[in-house]
Amino acid sequence: MTIPVRKCDAALGAEIVFDLAQTIDDATFAELEQAFHDNIVVFFRNQHLSNEKQIEFSRRFGELEIHIVKKYLLAGYPEILLVSNIKNEAGEHIGLADAGFTWHSDTSYRRNPSRCSLLYAKEVPYRDGKALGDTVFSNTIAAYEALSAATKRRIEGLTAIHRYSMRRRVDNSPRPKLTAAQLAETPDIAHPIVRTHPYTGRKALYITAGECIGIEGMPEDEALALIDELDAHCIRPEFCYRHSWRAGDLVMWDNATAMHLAVCDYALPDRRLMHRTTVIGSQPF
Ligand code: SIN
Repeated sequence: MTIPVRKCDAALGAEIVFDLAQTIDDATFAELEQAFHDNIVVFFRNQHLSNEKQIEFSRRFGELEIHIVKKYLLAGYPEILLVSNIKNEAGEHIGLADAGFTWHSDTSYRRNPSRCSLLYAKEVPYRDGKALGDTVFSNTIAAYEALSAATKRRIEGLTAIHRYSMRRRVDNSPRPKLTAAQLAETPDIAHPIVRTHPYTGRKALYITAGECIGIEGMPEDEALALIDELDAHCIRPEFCYRHSWRAGDLVMWDNATAMHLAVCDYALPDRRLMHRTTVIGSQPF
């Protein structure tokens, strides 16, 4: 079987023409996984997935993470995190309303951050015939490879400190503050700034201004300046793909080689509802 894979005209991203509701044998899964590794972000249009099917497909990539903010887990399906600006009758958000508003890589604050995330669009906001709430992805392999030799030498062996509650540039976040127990479960964690992909062996930058609060062994002002410099480098347009959503899209991305940003250009009454599954990965090296 050869599954059609249509590369985007960008530094990453491809559409895979495939119905994920079908039973997927091992050979077919291997083809999908290869396309995923080759393109970093892949998307499947026009899907009709039950919660069970999304979970089943996601599990082919590894164990699923139950998000630390329990309030937004889908009732009966704790593997599915609701990402949404919709409010219930009590006026409370039904999902994480500010997920991804700064550039980040999912669950980088974990010792074993996410291998990949799968976001399934249930409702997409539209205004004047144009979809809103795009997601932008950056190819951090390409960003690493484009660094000068001097910068590569400068950052070799350095580790950046990632923190869950660090949300630089997002003020008044509506998400609940973590309890003391949840904070204890997510201590600051240092990961290499240049990480090696556990499946392909390729090197990528792994540092984001949204979640990194310092660099081990470096004075704070110098570290923050370097974090900002590398973050700004990663998000240069030539390294990015911007996904314009349609209801029924399932987009999955590789958290070891991409960072992403949810564009917040919509508000109620324009509704956005996504179901996210998150696959646990291995410790970065
Ligand atoms: C996320 O960062 O997981 C959410 C991205 C999005 O909602 O576009």
